[in-house]
Formats: sequence, structure tokens, C-alpha cells
Amino acid sequence: MYSAPESGFSDLSRAINPDYLRDEEALVRELARQATVEPQLQGAIARTAAGLVETVRRYRRERSGLDAFLDQYDLSSAEGVVLMCLAEALLRIPDAETADLLIADRLAAGDWSSHIGESDSAFVNASTWGLMLTGRLVRPDPSAVSNPAGFVRDLIAKLGEPVVRSAFRQAMRIMGHQFVMGRTIDEALARSTEEGSSRYRFSFDMLGEAALTATDAQRYADAYRDAIKAVGSAPGVAQEIGVAAPSISIKLSALFPRLEYSQFDRALAEIVPTLRQLAETGRQHRVAVTVDAEEADRLELTLAIFEQVYLSPGLDDWDGLGIALQAYQKRATAAIEWLDGLSRRTGRRIPVRLVKGAYWDTEIKRAQERGLTSYPVYTRKSSTDVAYLACARQLFRLNGTLLPQFATHNAQTVATIMHLAGDNQEFEFQRLHGMGEELYQEIIDKHTVPCRVYAPVGKHEDLLPYLVRRLLENGANTSFVNRIVDEKSPVGEIIADPVEVTAQLDSIPHPRIPVPPELFAPERRNSSGVNFSDGIEIAQLIGEMVAARAAARDVYPIVGGREQQGTAVPSTDPADHSRQVGEVYWSDIETVGQALESAAAGFRNWSARAVAERADMLRRAADLYEQNRGELTALCVSEAGRCIPDAMSELREAVDFL
Ligand code: FAD
Ligand code: 2OP
Repeated sequence: MYSAPESGFSDLSRAINPDYLRDEEALVRELARQATVEPQLQGAIARTAAGLVETVRRYRRERSGLDAFLDQYDLSSAEGVVLMCLAEALLRIPDAETADLLIADRLAAGDWSSHIGESDSAFVNASTWGLMLTGRLVRPDPSAVSNPAGFVRDLIAKLGEPVVRSAFRQAMRIMGHQFVMGRTIDEALARSTEEGSSRYRFSFDMLGEAALTATDAQRYADAYRDAIKAVGSAPGVAQEIGVAAPSISIKLSALFPRLEYSQFDRALAEIVPTLRQLAETGRQHRVAVTVDAEEADRLELTLAIFEQVYLSPGLDDWDGLGIALQAYQKRATAAIEWLDGLSRRTGRRIPVRLVKGAYWDTEIKRAQERGLTSYPVYTRKSSTDVAYLACARQLFRLNGTLLPQFATHNAQTVATIMHLAGDNQEFEFQRLHGMGEELYQEIIDKHTVPCRVYAPVGKHEDLLPYLVRRLLENGANTSFVNRIVDEKSPVGEIIADPVEVTAQLDSIPHPRIPVPPELFAPERRNSSGVNFSDGIEIAQLIGEMVAARAAARDVYPIVGGREQQGTAVPSTDPADHSRQVGEVYWSDIETVGQALESAAAGFRNWSARAVAERADMLRRAADLYEQNRGELTALCVSEAGRCIPDAMSELREAVDFL
């Protein structure tokens, strides 16, 4: 009836999951030791990092793109938040009418006019005008300056939401142009050969997110395949070979509608052949393939798929299949170790793109919602920076099994890596199209380290989730990109060594981000959930469920604490009517009468007890629910037909109410 997926017990789970939700304090202190650089390097790193920051700031006047945009619309301004909410909300709203209502509501909340004329960048002003619905549409009214919210409200009333909506979309298009290398792969390839771009390596990303249907998945697979062929025959980038060869970045969630742990075996069966085919096409056209890193609960599945494709006989002479890993995940070092083992089994190098991680907000929110014991990611930016450097050292230490590709726009991170690498390590840097140009201009020119550009390709409509991730990660006031554009931020602070920052903290976990069990503290404890993407936790729950199932009893009405006899009726599993779960003894009319009398008397008794005593009893009931989670979950599944995660939610809801 229910059993843990075979793969849940695999060597892979055992290898990577022990630190899944580990205590942040202990883990980061350990990583900080590994990330500590030798004293003689510290000065040199600081000088290189400061030099990079100064260079980037010098280019400020010519600056365009995201850096400049965020200077105006960071998430500490109302407009930054409004913009992000709108972009995200518009993604989810299928009809124009509701989209209009939302725009009317949210646009009126922003203080757009205060941003006009504050930046030298045409890009920012264009966006500002677009958002202000001015530019070609309307001229700014003097009243807009004194009362911008009222002004925008009046504007919406005057022009109507459809016009406002199209103006907003136009602003989004301006941003789209900034982030997208081309609407089609041909357009992107043409742009990649333009002057200035020829100094970079490229990885093209066909914009899109998790497939929702098999048709979506097929469309994405076709787009990836066509892109590989187009890149492989393009006159510019296709000339590059070996480690410099162009690549395609692939999101596995786009290749199958349910890249989730509960569908482990099926996801493996469906994605492996598709990814293998794409890799074979890549090998044939000399285009590398990189598997992007997505949400934490897809990591194990992603590695399992990667392993099978990597070991495919048709690919055994090719080292173009690479993978991205997120340093903000507590499992990062274990994942690197596992990849090292995989590489040693074949003697072939694996390109590893090390990123910090782009789904931080999602990870935090999901872990809270699921009632996990802790977070799969760190809660402090400095912890992620420390982990990134520890992972970088680990990659260098492995000495050649993995080919490091460091994807970051942070000058401190870049400077540290350059010094750690010394002269005899082969690696590359990576940046996102539309970001970090000034930083890497310097790296390529002066330091001659190669850099690859991650180049999104697609239409404006497909950009939004990617754009929201960029706004979230870079709009945060801790983000490097955000801090560097703030001239008031002293260079020394921006390039502070994260190991030192960590050493000065009283508590490494962020005090304002309590672990999920303490989310509602001190008022009450959160109900505990199960991490349904960790085979070990699932196996534990299923074990408890199976034991409870064996002990299943018949069920009687209980009145006044005593079991009552009645008429026995077989109770069957809604998912399989031939399976009898047990017998239920229905109450008769007399028993119901007794139950009501007993309840009325019980209520008088209950109400007379002190509040603290009643609270204790409810808490004890909640604890008993949790202690007996196997039995209660098994009953929800076999009697009410719930799937296991839903049964667990049902139980947690009851515990929360108690
Ligand atoms: P920084 O400002 O130094 O770091 C910002 C990052 O710090 C955030 O993105 C987050 O990871 C972390 N952070 C912020 N606040 C906190 C906090 N409170 N607690 C813990 N950590 C925090 N991301 C993916 O997930 N998958 C990919 O496949 C991927 N591919 C990429 C490819 C390229 C070429 C590049 C440049 C980036 C890619 N990213 C990917 C994005 C990447 O994960 C980072 O989000 C982004 O590069 C910002 O990191 P940074 O070093 O440039 O900036
Ligand atoms: C993202 O899609 C760049 O892969 C990263 O956010």
C-alpha cells in the first residue's frame, strides 16, 4: 500500500543528506575554519577586491542595466517592492481584468516620481517613465511631485487600467531587453559575436521554468535541442572548443512536469532519456550541457539523474556534461564530495558551476510552511559567503576531478578565488548577461582569467520568474550589487572578509529568522512536519505507519470514556474498496443521547477548570497527536483516502489548533 521509494535509501541519500537541515551555528563555524585564508594572502585579497570595487564605481557614470536600476528601485523603497510584487503577481493572473485591478491597487501605492531624474542612466529613466506611465503616454503633472500616490490614482482613473497595464508591460519590456540576450537563439548568437562579446564564453539558457504538462516538457526539450544545434553551427561561438566551448544551461524541471521527490522513480525514468539525448546532441555538436541548480528539494533527484546520464556509454569520451551547485545549501560540500567520487569512477572531469543560490526566499518560506526542523539553506548572507569560499577551496583541493566555474558578481568573492587559485588551477568565472560587465572587464583584461556569460534567450513573457529572482537577490540590501552602487557604503565594509564577519557574530543563525519549530514562539510551538524530500525522514514515517497499520483495531463510539457496542460495519480503503481497514461500530440513537448528556456535563466540568490547566491538557493532546503521528497518518490515508503529505497536513492542522 505504501512503501518508501527504493531510491530513498540509496547511497546518494546517505552521502548527501546528513547535513540537510543541520544546525547552522556548528556547520558554519566548521566551514569558516575551512574558508580561512592564510594571513599572507589576506592583504592581497583585500587590495584586489578594493581595486575591483573602485573600478566598478569609476564606471558608474556609464553604468546601465540592473546595477543602475537597483540603485533606484531597491527593495527598501516602496517602488522596488511594488515592482517585484507586480512582476510576480502578473505571472499568476490569467485574466486582464484581475491584472488591471491589481495594477490599480499596487501602482497607486508607490512613490514613483521621487525617482525621476535621479540617475544618469537612460535605462533607469526609461523604466521610471514607463512605471510613471509618463514618457510618451503622459507628461508629468506638477502635482505628481507633491502627491505621487494621488497622481497615479488619478491617472488610472483617467486613462483606465488597460492603458496602465500596457504601460507597465512596456516598462517590463525595457527590463527584458536588459536581461535577455535575444528573443530567439539566432538573435542571441548574433549578439554574442558583436564587438566586446567575443571575449567571453557563453552559456545559453532557453528561458522557462518547471513544465506543468507533458506538452510543455516536450516543447522545452525541443527548444534545448534546437538551441544546441544552432549554437553548434554558429560562426562565432562554435569555434571555441574544449573548456572554452559554448554551453546550454538546462533546468531539469522543464523536462518533466513533476520533478519532485515523491515521483523519484518516474522522474528518473522520464528525464534520463531526454537529458541523455540532449547530451548526445551536445557531444555531436561540441556544445557543453550544464544542469542548472533549482530548489533544494530537487537536489537529490537532480544528482541521481545526472549520475545516470553521466555514466551513459555513448558519452564516455565526453567531459562536456556539467552541473551547478548552490553553496547556500547545507549539503553543498557533501554534494561536491559525491561528484568527486563520480568523476573518479570514470576518470572524466565534471565541470561544476558554483553559485550561491537564487531561491533563498522560497527555501525559507517553504521550510516554515512545512514545519521542518531547520532550513536547508543558511539564514545569513555572510554564512553563504563563507560556505561559497569553503566550497571553492574544496574544488581546488580536489585537484582536477571537477572543473570549477565560479558564478558570482561579488568582487570580494572574485578576489578571494583569484588568490586561492594561484597560478596552476584551471577555472573560469561566470556572470549573468546584463550584470557584472564592469567587474569582469577588469578581470579579463588585467588578470586574463576567462569568463562565461549566462545568456537567457526568450520572449518577454518567459522572463518574469527569472527577473523576479534577480530582483529578489539583488534588491536585498545585503547583496553585493546593491551595496556597491551605494556610494555611501565604505569600500572596506563592502569587501569585508566573510570569515571575519562570521567570527564577530554572537549568533550565526539570523535572530530574526527563527527555525520553523520556533516560528510562533514564545506564544506556542509550531507543529512538526516531515521533510518529504529526504528519503531518510520518509522511511522513518513510513516505518511508523506500517507498524501502526499492523496494530489496527476496530473502532467503537466512546461515551464517558467507555467503549460502546453498536452495529459493526466494515470500513474500506477509498483507494481500494476490496481492502477492509477495520470495523466501525456505529452509534445508535440511545448512545447519541448519552453522548450529548455526557458532553454537556463534561463541558461544565471543563469550564470550571483553570485556564492554565485547560491549556496544559490541550498541549498534552497536541503532543500525543505528534507522538502517534504514524497511526494517525496511516488512518487518514487508509480511511479518508489522503495521500501521505496531505494526511500529515491534516494532522499538523489539528496540532496547531490544539
Ligand atoms: P552576493 O550579493 O554576494 O550574494 C547574494 C546571494 O547571497 C543570494 O543570491 C543568496 O544566495 C545569498 N543570500 C542572500 N541573503 C542571504 C541570507 N539572509 N542567508 C543566506 N544566504 C543569503 N542560481 C541558482 O540557484 N541556480 C543556478 O543554476 C544559477 N546559475 C547562475 C549562473 C550564473 C552565471 C550566475 C552569475 C548566477 C547564477 N545563479 C544561479 C544565481 C546565483 O545563485 C546568485 O544568486 C547570484 O549570482 C548572486 O550571488 P553573488 O555572489 O553574485 O552576489
Ligand atoms: C536562474 O534561473 C540563473 O539559473 C539561474 O535564476
